[in-house]
Amino acid sequence: MQEKILVLDFGGQYSKLIARRVREQNVYSEIRQYNKITVKEIKDAAYSGIIFTGGPCSVYEETSPHFDKAVLDCGIPVLGICYGAQLMAYMAGGKVESAANSSEYGRTKLFATESTLFESVPAESICWMSHTDYIKSVPDGFSVTAHTEKCPTAAMADPVRKLYAVQFHPEVMHTEYGTRIIANFLFSVCGCTASWKMDDFVETSVKKYREELKGKKVLMALSGGVDSSVAAALLGKAIGENLVCVFVDHGMMRKNEGNFVENTFKNSFGLNLIRVNAEERFLGKLKGVTEPEEKRKIIGKEFIRVFEEEAKKLGKTEILAQGTIYPDVIESGKGDSATIKSHHNVGGLPSVMDFERIVEPLAELFKDEVRKVGKVLGLPDRLVYRQPFPGPGLAVRVIGEVTKEKLDMLREADAVFCEETEKLTPPDLMPDQYFAVMTDLMSVGVKGDARIYGPVVALRAVNTDDFMTAEWTKLPSEVLEAASGRITGEISGITRVVYDITSKPPATVEWE
Ligand code: XMP
Repeated sequence: MQEKILVLDFGGQYSKLIARRVREQNVYSEIRQYNKITVKEIKDAAYSGIIFTGGPCSVYEETSPHFDKAVLDCGIPVLGICYGAQLMAYMAGGKVESAANSSEYGRTKLFATESTLFESVPAESICWMSHTDYIKSVPDGFSVTAHTEKCPTAAMADPVRKLYAVQFHPEVMHTEYGTRIIANFLFSVCGCTASWKMDDFVETSVKKYREELKGKKVLMALSGGVDSSVAAALLGKAIGENLVCVFVDHGMMRKNEGNFVENTFKNSFGLNLIRVNAEERFLGKLKGVTEPEEKRKIIGKEFIRVFEEEAKKLGKTEILAQGTIYPDVIESGKGDSATIKSHHNVGGLPSVMDFERIVEPLAELFKDEVRKVGKVLGLPDRLVYRQPFPGPGLAVRVIGEVTKEKLDMLREADAVFCEETEKLTPPDLMPDQYFAVMTDLMSVGVKGDARIYGPVVALRAVNTDDFMTAEWTKLPSEVLEAASGRITGEISGITRVVYDITSKPPATVEWE
């Protein structure tokens, strides 16, 4: 049985990060909300350990999230973090108090004593604190194992019951020995063996799907994005030509992208791929449409139509495959892998189609793990490390009405900008996403001796961890200069290039 750690989520902002930190140590982890799992289920699932996450509440508030205290006596080791630490103290009979003068925020000096949790951690180190409440007195059986200047119980432990708690956040990188502390919990306390590896994941999944899907036809919409590409390559390895990938080229892909996707999967991977060239059809539907949300809706709807038509032509397919990944599952709030992605790029295909079953081979994986799987499967870096690209494609990067002429110009400008950024930007300054936008502004210029009048192209580059917030990238001026020179020089019609210096918020990453 796969060893696994339960991340019991009490509403903390770092729950996902905790789960990832565990997986980075090659131990599988899953997040469950505190009110969606019982002690019996925890015991039955035979978790190797449990981590209580932080949370925004105070344990004594009536509405604050609590958990059945039997969990502390079921023989499974527990690590409480922040609110999770206070909750453990409260559940076990200790005392938690709120005092503004004991609150700490940010980098804090930690004084640790000997404890399994602090093996190879120096007596003095830096940790990351963020709390007002604190553990005033530890429960029976526990002893204090670390303190800070303001916080008398920065860590406590009951080694007999294998219960550990830290007031600080070992999962954030500002905690100097955070990784060590998490590793100590996983390996020294829980006895995990670091068996979660992407090579093994590929091998086990291929074997599993080969058996489960034997003789069945599986249909998959391949967008060329990281998730659907990796899912397709994995399933292709398992069931070969019984996997039929439909790649709807809506004509709003970047330069050479459609051919690249087709070549990779058809020629290099030998997948059964149907490419539907539907540019005219999509552009027809978008004619005269300028409102961004309307564009998105039209593209989503049309995508389903085209996909359905192709599916019908293929005859009965029992199974639909999707590239859903773990954050999609967590965000949908249901926490089980059968959940159908409602915000799927291509607009929720399953709701309109009749399938016996939906297969989501990546539903347990975080994005970085999906990329590792892609590498193990031999997908090219250009696909595996691809920047995010919106489902509606360049339609949301052509402001106003989308026309073939504007799309073609944008494709060229975008390719030049990407090329120059990749060529001239030092690795530590590389943006996480960079692209060109075709604005609907017209501007006067001069080329040779002639006055010209043409569109303005905007360049956008951002740095971000999660795309929820983003900072505009301070690209070196050589990059901007080279891109601007080439765009106005090589693409006839474009008169002017501007650089977007807005962060998110207040702007979004995409212009529409
Ligand atoms: P915004 O513009 O919302 O973008 O700041 C955040 C990230 O999401 C990408 N994006 C999309 N991805 N379908 C997608 O799959 C979409 O409709 C879509 N719109 C934006 C965007 O490229 C950025 O990485």
